[in-house]
Amino acid sequence: MPKGQDVCSVTELKPGDMKCVFLGARRILLSNVDGQVYATSDLCSHALAYLSDGFLEGAVVECPLHGAQFDVTTGKALSAPADGDIDTYEVTVTDGRIFVASEEQVPAKS
Ligand code: FES
Repeated sequence: MPKGQDVCSVTELKPGDMKCVFLGARRILLSNVDGQVYATSDLCSHALAYLSDGFLEGAVVECPLHGAQFDVTTGKALSAPADGDIDTYEVTVTDGRIFVASEEQVPAKS
């Protein structure tokens, strides 16, 4: 049994796409980077904006409000005015379905 909650089909998230899904009331951003799916918080660390409304370029998502950038593979903030990293979540793909674990993973320190 895969870990986490079944959130959508892999066919809904093509390479270069991102999508908001829900874990309970939590907004999760799914991003497909070269065929690999990553899950992070959908909420920008700066203010109230949803990253799924922004732009994904490679592994970098840009917030639609003030342009902060985050690495969706690590949750690391890459540019101002981000106030910190965003949470990441474990993703498992099984039988064409994407599962996201409900516990946040602390971004790795560099
Ligand atoms: S709300 Fe995202 S950069 Fe300001």
